[in-house]
Amino acid sequence: MATVVLVTGGTGLVGKALEHIIETEPVGSRFGKLPNETWIFASSAEGDLRDPEQTNKLYEKYKPTHVIHLAALVGGLFKNMKYKLTFLRDNILINDNVLHASYTHKTTKLISCLSTCVFPDKVEYPLDENKIHSGPPHESNFGYAHAKRMVDVQNHAYKEEFGCNFTSAIPTNIFGPYDNYDLEDAHVIPALVHKCYLAKKNGTPFIVSGTGKPLRQFIFSHDLAKLFVWMLREYDDVEPIILSVGEDEEVSIKEVTDAIVKAVGFDGHYSFDTSKADGQFRKPASNKKLLDRIGGFQFTPFEQALDISVKWFIENYDTARTGNNKKA
Ligand SMILES: NC(=O)c1ccc[n+]([C@@H]2O[C@H](COP(=O)([O-])OP(=O)(O)OC[C@H]3O[C@@H](n4cnc5c(N)ncnc54)[C@H](OP(=O)(O)O)[C@@H]3O)[C@@H](O)[C@H]2O)c1
Repeated sequence: MATVVLVTGGTGLVGKALEHIIETEPVGSRFGKLPNETWIFASSAEGDLRDPEQTNKLYEKYKPTHVIHLAALVGGLFKNMKYKLTFLRDNILINDNVLHASYTHKTTKLISCLSTCVFPDKVEYPLDENKIHSGPPHESNFGYAHAKRMVDVQNHAYKEEFGCNFTSAIPTNIFGPYDNYDLEDAHVIPALVHKCYLAKKNGTPFIVSGTGKPLRQFIFSHDLAKLFVWMLREYDDVEPIILSVGEDEEVSIKEVTDAIVKAVGFDGHYSFDTSKADGQFRKPASNKKLLDRIGGFQFTPFEQALDISVKWFIENYDTARTGNNKKA
């Protein structure tokens, strides 16, 4: 039977990475396209998923047998804090419409994307898949986190009432080509890449907020894309799964910044503004379940992945999401 894989959010950081992997891995290989597969990468222009009618039309048009649901209202700390209700409502609407359309259109399998932001603020580390609902999320992203948590609740309910094969992935911090580099709203890596690029271009100092000491787990979007393909083919369990490098591969913000400085080729003044607050020191997540299930996976070394991302940003500066090309 022909397989049609619909990727919602197909134009974003993760969607573009999936498209890259599907187009570049050998056909028929573990992460490559299978001969009977058609992949559709949908943008919001093809259908606003907050609207049930537009969502249904998208499903009627492509008749997907499988859905990788990435579409979401995503933003940095500032936007999450300022627009809590919008983050809650838009994401609830998007997710509810996609899940329900997947049920009514008899989609064989649906994988949705959560985030480590869904975990409780006060929790014992490392994070693992059993701790999602064991306390309130951090207050700064409570709208986004609650909406994402509901996907896990709904997945269980759809399975129990209707036997649906719905599941979810929990990636840690993602970076790669096609990231959001808008300085007003970017995550840490794209924000630092953009700042460093401007410092080099303008001959100004490169000042990084905080001490550089906090540690984070970052996953390269191309590695994450391969893991989504693996889930599509081999992971049939309603319970979520963390998609991440190991806890032993945490990197400090200083290490991230050093790698960016090297990749950008910046040789001007670079320092940390220690008067600015650091976020949480660490929030490690365990990838034990992933490694147990997948049986071996080669993550791209961090510096190499960062170099690819920085090169992409420099080559695509005019069209990248820098905030310079925002519609008025
Ligand atoms: N970035 C991270 O570090 C991170 C970490 C953990 C989890 N995640 C999760 O990973 C998934 C992908 O994130 P990303 O970083 O790739 O996001 P992104 O680059 O901001 O892309 C978001 C995608 O969602 C689409 N979208 C947004 N609102 C929509 C709507 N109302 N209707 C239809 N499509 C809509 C966008 O379409 P258009 O561009 O066409 O408007 C875009 O393709 C999300 O579910 C996010 O929560 C991200």
